[in-house]
Amino acid sequence: MAKTKVSDLDWQNLGFVYHDLPYRYRAEYHNGKWEAGKLVTDSHLEMSEAAVGLHYGQQIFEGLKAYRRQDGGVNIFRPDRNAARMARSAERLLMASYPEDLFVEAIKEVVKANQEFVPPYESGATLYIRPLLIAATPDIGVHPGNDYIFNIFVTPVGAYYPGGLAPTAYVTSDFDRAAHGGTGQAKVGGNYAASMLPGEQAHQAGYSDVVYLDPRLHENIEELGSANFFGITKDNRFLTPKSPSILPSVTKYSLLELAVEMGLQPEETTISIYDLDKFSEAGAMGTAAVISPVGSITHQGNKHVFYSETEVGPKTQALYDRLVAIQYGDEKGPEGWAVDV
Ligand code: PLP
Ligand code: COI
Repeated sequence: MAKTKVSDLDWQNLGFVYHDLPYRYRAEYHNGKWEAGKLVTDSHLEMSEAAVGLHYGQQIFEGLKAYRRQDGGVNIFRPDRNAARMARSAERLLMASYPEDLFVEAIKEVVKANQEFVPPYESGATLYIRPLLIAATPDIGVHPGNDYIFNIFVTPVGAYYPGGLAPTAYVTSDFDRAAHGGTGQAKVGGNYAASMLPGEQAHQAGYSDVVYLDPRLHENIEELGSANFFGITKDNRFLTPKSPSILPSVTKYSLLELAVEMGLQPEETTISIYDLDKFSEAGAMGTAAVISPVGSITHQGNKHVFYSETEVGPKTQALYDRLVAIQYGDEKGPEGWAVDV
């Protein structure tokens, strides 16, 4: 695959696709310690055909973004939270985690090295940052590796859900993406592999993505595709699911704080699929999804419409505007959220 040049890119129509940019950050772990990481140009990783990460799925990743500010500088959004989540994911999979302070510095370094690929402010596009940690030790037994590769690539992206802030339709699935006590709280590739078949079925049926229900009762909302769910009640509560099998979303924790500023009362709680009437608005939230209004959820053939199937609700819009203004540096947010590169 040829390297992408800036002149190849149409900032308005980036889609959510991979581009092979000039630099990525890479570090290796051997003999119980991390070797010094550095920027490299080769986008291929080299490891044994027997690498534990390839066969037994001992690998984790992260996702965050860099934003071009109006003054031409670049912000990254709460990278310390992704560093911390990656460390927790590593713990769950018995991996050597990359030190959190070095993680943040590495992200800055790789964004700086590829800075001409951070889309212009006016485009509303971003530079997506994808850290990966994978066990490279060759083994045929199911044992944690002793050797790890940590790699961060970046790629410019537009909206994950085409149509921007347009509401989309979701459908529940009989499949689960993760079990209670499983790896749902960790950002493990296997969770996403498990979501591909239900995702494809939802797309085939004309929906934008899947609503996963809790794996025990199949009654409570867990996640929306690759994003967390929120609903805003008629009496101004901002509710989001509490469950041991969902990914602790950086966007979710940010919105739980911003909701308070807007006079909403935030709460992580159980949300039954049979109790959607109480919500006047609903949305998906995540790094890729940002905030995407949920137009409707169909469960067992019954379609529930929230605010509108075509228009974004005012509270969802206000949360979106505030979050995005902080990310792009137009408005000041809580201390430490927008980190200058
Ligand atoms: N849930 C899943 C399954 C995800 O893949 C993501 C994306 O990272 C999220 C939720 C949202 O998390 P965040 O806001 O940290 O991107
Ligand atoms: C993200 O929002 O960063 C994610 O990881 C979702 C991804 C599956 C596109």
